[in-house]
Amino acid sequence: MRDDDFKDILLPNGPEILRKNAEPFLNLMMRYECAIMEVETKLNVLNAEFSLNHNRNPIESIKTRLKKPMSIIEKMKRRGFELTVESIEENLFDIAGIRVICSFVDDIYTVANLLINQDDIKLLRMKDYIKNPKENGYRSLHLIIEVPIFLSNEKKYMKSEVQLRTIAMDSWASLDHKLRYKQDLENPEGIAGRLKECALLCDELDRRMQDIRNEIEKK
Ligand code: GTP
Ligand code: MG
Repeated sequence: MRDDDFKDILLPNGPEILRKNAEPFLNLMMRYECAIMEVETKLNVLNAEFSLNHNRNPIESIKTRLKKPMSIIEKMKRRGFELTVESIEENLFDIAGIRVICSFVDDIYTVANLLINQDDIKLLRMKDYIKNPKENGYRSLHLIIEVPIFLSNEKKYMKSEVQLRTIAMDSWASLDHKLRYKQDLENPEGIAGRLKECALLCDELDRRMQDIRNEIEKK
């Protein structure tokens, strides 16, 4: 486990709920870390098989992250949920996060379908912000899945959030994320409008790249 993520919970001035429940909380975090490993391996296997059969990688890269204890507490409080380890596991779907950057838009759907059709994966929710972009221009395909992990004497299904995007969608989301935290903007509406224009340009880029690939692969 990446223990630098957890040091803060055991400090005397750390959050009481986590200090008092350190053992079950660390066990929960370990299980989410295992879920990330399982999903990441499944994606790497799909990529390896696809590249052998089609001579290219549908997945450009995979990034994973385990939600930090302080962000977990903040989100539980903001959503008004009881602060217990059981309630964290029941109510938060994005403690294990896997971001999949795909080469082309159609690869997103190919990879997502291959993943959710595996017989040990349960699909809890899918949000298609590519077919239905958010008002600000955000695009990505979001899946909430459950994946089994095998511990010494039990099999546990763990929730994970998988976000699939193209390189263009990812670069837009990453800049949007950076700007979102900038306070005291002089002209927030103007900035939002220009960001949305950039999102439309990214969409156009994805379409053109997909068209070129379709033409090349037509032969
Ligand atoms: P969260 O409480 O934020 O998880 O919202 P939600 O449960 O409604 O989930 P949703 O699927 O809409 O978004 C989940 C995640 O997608 C966020 O935590 C971000 O990582 C990403 N995301 C959603 N909207 C945006 C956006 O407008 N900009 C950026 N940069 N990322 C976004
Ligand atoms: Mg989230």
